[in-house]
This record gives sequence, C-alpha cells and structure tokens, in this order.
Amino acid sequence: MVEMKKLENGFEYVELKNSVASAKIALQGAHIFSFKRSDEELLWLSSKSAFENGTAIRGGIPLCWPRFGNLDKALPQHGFARTFLFELMKVTEESDTLTVVHMQLKSSQESRKIWNFDFVLDIFFHISDTLKIEMQTSNKDTKEFLLTQAFHTYFAVSDIDDVVISGLDGKEYLDSLTGKEEYQKGDIFIDREVDRIYKESAEHITLSDKEHEVNIGAKNSHSVIVWNPWIEKCAKMSGMQKEAYKEFVCIESANALDDFKVVQLNESVSLFVKYNFRKLV
Ligand code: BG6
Repeated sequence: MVEMKKLENGFEYVELKNSVASAKIALQGAHIFSFKRSDEELLWLSSKSAFENGTAIRGGIPLCWPRFGNLDKALPQHGFARTFLFELMKVTEESDTLTVVHMQLKSSQESRKIWNFDFVLDIFFHISDTLKIEMQTSNKDTKEFLLTQAFHTYFAVSDIDDVVISGLDGKEYLDSLTGKEEYQKGDIFIDREVDRIYKESAEHITLSDKEHEVNIGAKNSHSVIVWNPWIEKCAKMSGMQKEAYKEFVCIESANALDDFKVVQLNESVSLFVKYNFRKLV
C-alpha cells in the first residue's frame, strides 16, 4: 500500500506499508517520521512537533545538509534541506517485503540565496525489516563545494536511564558543550546533557534499552553525534514537551568536523545508514 496524504494546511507526506514494515515520509526535508516493524516504532516523534511547511519536524530523521551543526555561520544550523520541499520521484514496491522511495531536491533560486551552488540531492529509503537510507549529493555547478551532513536520527527509547550505547569505546570526541577533546571510556550512558561529535567512529554502533536493541551501520561516515538535551535545554527547545528528553536519544551518522567532503564538478557523494532493530522482551 502506498498513499499520498495531505494535511489541511497543505503539508504532504507518503504513507506506505508492506508485509513487514510501514513508514511515513514527509516531502518537506525528505523527512521520515515513522518507521514501524511488526508494530514496533523505531523513531521518536515529538507530540508537540509542527507539521507545517517552513518548520522542521521535531523527531524522526531530519537530514542535516549541506551542513551539520552551526560551525559555518553563513548557513542555518544543520543546513536548509530539512525545511525545503523535495519532489517524490518514484515509489517502487520491489516485493512484498521491500518498498523503495526516491525523493529529490534540486538547486533553485531560493536555495541559491542561502548556498550559491547548483546541486541535486537524491534520497533513497529502503523500507523493509531493516531501514536503509542513502543520501546522494551531486555537484552540478562549475566549482567544487564543501559538504558536511548527517542523518539526525531520534531513536525512541523506553527510558533514557536504560540507554546503553556501545561501539565507541576509546574514540576521540569533541564535547560541544565544553569545546574540549576527550576520549570515550567504555559504553555511553546518558545521565546529563550530552552533545558530542565522535571522530573516526566505528562502522557499527549498538543502542539498547530494556526493550530493544538497534544496530546502526553507516557507510562513508567517520563521525557520529550523540545528543540528548537533558532537563534544562529540553524545556527551552522548540517543538518539544518538557519531559521529552526521557524518551529519545539522537545518534547521528555523519560527515562532520574533519570528516567533511569536497564534492568535485559532476561528482556524486553518498552517505548510507542502515538500522536493524529487534525486541529484547
Ligand atoms: C544536534 C546538535 O545534532 O542537534 C545539538 O549537536 C543541537 O547541538 C541539536 O541542539 C538540535 O538541533 P536543532 O537545530 O534541531 O534544534
């Protein structure tokens, strides 16, 4: 089943279901905001999120593009793709268990005002018993451009106190809260505000809580962000209820800091992520 849905305010998304999974993907930002396997939801979505053109959905997987973060002051935080309307190119029901959705954003007068390059950004979602996403950037300009990017994934968790993130032991990270470089010792537990960019990150990271285990596999990515706003920041954030920090953690497969890409003329660069999740109880 594949259906186009439109809210009263004109906000559009694709809803699809096959025999193993279902998903909802907004045209704004090519933003997936629900992925369910056997009725188990992988992604966190804020009950206070806006669903309107011009404001990014709070939750799901915002695509940070062509910048991750706010280090480049010439561009908005996390770039601009998450508030731009993509075109739905194709939905292919490959089999009973696999649906592929292709969305595209092309440079326009509007995008050139923010970032003066010609580009094509293609996003491919593979909806099956796993969720796979490819973000492919093609340079259509006459000069090279620099790219940082991320899948800013909000994972739903049973309780933040139960979260264990493994696979980053010994890795160096930039603590964005202090500006200091540190080394990870053992697994990651979240008991305060955490905002870190891990460098030379592993290809596989595992997130578990009491109920689920998610295996995160990324390709062409050597950086990963771990973020939870905790009590004070959460209370101040747009589109988030006060206690929301207990319900999610963001683990963002990225090209950030020194792991940036320089995309040459007529070159295409891809970032891939694959989420495999299973119920523990
Ligand atoms: C994370 C950043 O990736 O995104 C945080 O590391 C930031 O610093 C968070 O607060 C949310 O950003 P935004 O722009 O969606 O509110």
